[in-house]
Amino acid sequence: MSSYQSQILEDFERFKHALPDNLEEYILEQYAISLASTYGNLAIKNPFGKASGQLSLNANQIERDARSGLGFAVLKTVIAQDASGAQSMKAWAIPAARMTVEEIIGTRETVRGEKGWTVTWKGRGWSETFEAYLEFFDRALEIGRKNETLVIPSVKYHLPRPDENVWRSSEYEFTTGKLYEVWNKHNASPMPLEKDFSPTLAGDMNFSRERENILSWLREVPSQIHKTSVGPNIHLGLKIFNAAHSDDFQLEMLNMCESTSGQERADYVIYGNRLFDPNKEYEGVSGVAFGGPDLSDRNLSILSQWRHSLPLSATGNITTGKMAFEYLKRGATSFQMHTLFQLPDSEFEMKGGTRTARALHRLLFHPQDGFLLCVLHEKEVRAWRDSISIPEMAAQLRPS
Ligand SMILES: Cc1cc2nc3c(=O)[nH]c(=O)nc-3n(C[C@H](O)[C@H](O)[C@H](O)COP(=O)(O)O)c2cc1C
Repeated sequence: MSSYQSQILEDFERFKHALPDNLEEYILEQYAISLASTYGNLAIKNPFGKASGQLSLNANQIERDARSGLGFAVLKTVIAQDASGAQSMKAWAIPAARMTVEEIIGTRETVRGEKGWTVTWKGRGWSETFEAYLEFFDRALEIGRKNETLVIPSVKYHLPRPDENVWRSSEYEFTTGKLYEVWNKHNASPMPLEKDFSPTLAGDMNFSRERENILSWLREVPSQIHKTSVGPNIHLGLKIFNAAHSDDFQLEMLNMCESTSGQERADYVIYGNRLFDPNKEYEGVSGVAFGGPDLSDRNLSILSQWRHSLPLSATGNITTGKMAFEYLKRGATSFQMHTLFQLPDSEFEMKGGTRTARALHRLLFHPQDGFLLCVLHEKEVRAWRDSISIPEMAAQLRPS
C-alpha cells in the first residue's frame, strides 16, 4: 500500500463522525490537491454539487447543503411564464410527493449485471407560483453567499412542437429578466442559468419525435435567452437530455452546441440527464425516467467521442468519486448528483453529520472508489506537478 493510500484510509476512518472544518484547506495541506474548480466558467470551491430536483426546492435543503460543504447547488426547475402568467410548458408544473429509491441492474453490454440505484417518481417541475420561486432563489443566494456555495436557477422554457413555428419569446424575456433581477441584488457578475431539456421530453411524442425539431431547439434556445434584455448578463448552460434516438444522435446534439457561435452559442453544457423507459409503469403512469449504471455507461461512451471546447458539468449516476473522475477524464470540471443523496443509510460509512456530509465523505475519502485516490493515482502516473488544478487535469485528460 502506498503512503497516500494509507493516509486516505486513515482519514476515511477519522472523518466518520464529522468532516474537517475547512475541507478544501485540509485536502490542500494534506494531499496537495486543490479542489477549486469551475462550473461553466465560474469559480467554485469544490466540484461537487447538487443537481436540480426534489432535493433543492426549499431553503432548508439549500442551507443544509451549503453548510455541509457543497461547491454548488442547482435549484429545482421552474416552468417559464410570460408577464400575464401564461405558461406554455404548464404540463410540466405538476407536484409529486412520493419518490421511490430502488436498486437497478445494468443492461448495456459493458455494465450488464452491475448494481446501481435509481429514483422513480412521476412529478416534473416547480409546482408553486413563480413569485414563490423568486423568493426561494433570493433566500438561496443569501445562504449560498454566506457559505461560498454557488446557487444556480434552472428553467424549462417554451419549446415549439414540430408543427408549431413560433417561439414564445415573451416567456424567455419575462422569466429570465425576473430571475436576473434577484441575482443582481446579490451579485454584479453574470448569472449562471441551466436550461433544462428534461428526459420526460423523450417520452412526449408530440414534442420530440423529430430529430430536426430537437436540433432546432438547441440552436435557437441560446438566441432566445441571449437576446432578452438581460441576455448579455446570462451565463447559459444547456442541460442535455437522453433522447429516444440513437447514440449518434446524442453526439449530434452535443455537436450542435459546440458548432454554434455568437448569440446561438451556449456558455456551457450539462450532460446528461436520465434515460427514459416508455414501458415502465409507476403509480398508474406509463413511461418513467431512470438512472443507474446504464445512464453513466451511455453518457461516458458518448462523451468519450465528443471533441469540445465548451465547459462541461457532469450528471448521471455519480455515486462514487471514481465515477466523478471518469467524467473528469471526459472534460467535466463539476459533478452534479441527485440519486446519491437519496441512497439508504447503509450505503454511507460516515455515521454522523448530514446526508450531504456523508455523501462528500464517500465521494472524497473512500479508500477504493474515492476521488482523492483517483486524483493521486493519476498524478503519480503522469508525474503532474503538485499545483495542477482540476480544470487543468480535465483539459489534459479529455478526448482530443
Ligand atoms: C426525483 C428527481 C427529480 C428531478 N428533477 C429535475 C428537475 O426538475 N430539473 C432537472 O434539470 N433535472 C431533474 N432531475 C435530474 C437530476 O438533476 C439529475 O441530472 C439526474 O437525476 C442524474 O443524476 P443522478 O444519477 O445523480 O440522479 C431530477 C431527478 C430526479 C431523480
